[in-house]
Amino acid sequence: MATIWNHNSCQAAFAGTHIIEDKQIDTLGSAGWFAQENFLDSSLCESLVADLKLRQKSGAMKQAGIGRGGGHIHAGDIRTDQTYWLSGESPAQATCLALMNELRRQLNQTLYLGLDFYEAHYAAYQAGGFYKKHLDSFKGKRNRIVSTVLYLTPGWQERDQGHLVLYDAIDHDREIGRVLPRQGTLVCFLSEDIPHEVLPPTRERVSIAGWFRERGSDIINL
Ligand code: OGA
Ligand code: MN
Repeated sequence: MATIWNHNSCQAAFAGTHIIEDKQIDTLGSAGWFAQENFLDSSLCESLVADLKLRQKSGAMKQAGIGRGGGHIHAGDIRTDQTYWLSGESPAQATCLALMNELRRQLNQTLYLGLDFYEAHYAAYQAGGFYKKHLDSFKGKRNRIVSTVLYLTPGWQERDQGHLVLYDAIDHDREIGRVLPRQGTLVCFLSEDIPHEVLPPTRERVSIAGWFRERGSDIINL
């Protein structure tokens, strides 16, 4: 049977609910990041993985670039993931985007931010892949304000590795956190402040990387 999905009813399902504890959001303001396990339920994760696999099979996932200014630097030396931008074209994508829109509203309310929209892509790292230490946005550009990652691979264990490592905003060599990419976990961090890297996983690692942004700011894909 075809899934009947309607944007308004989905919005209504989340509207008004605080989808994460305010104290987590406060931690984003004070420490620059937080991680929340089981943010996505497993059925939504499974639908998102199935949707991602379809894009992989059709060849729609593309080697990620390092954006404008990358110049002569070969992106493959910096990152190895393949990506596909979410548009809301499938029910799973639309549900995920509606959920993140509610998170956007909560961030605006709790931290008095003026986040206007969310953009996100699927990302697949193969075994041994990586994304070297980087910032998602440059100070003052106000292009990406809050970065998010939603992890999707089922059954992820410590031995599978592929951690996200977060570094101090001032001392870029000081590790401040390490997140195992377990299915359903959400990580949020300040795009302009927190350098971070993806360590090599031992098997395929799939996720959704996304950014809350202000309207009118420049697009830089990092
Ligand atoms: C990114 C990124 C982190 C992760 O896509 O910019 O840093 O854990 N991803 O996948
Ligand atoms: Mn990043």
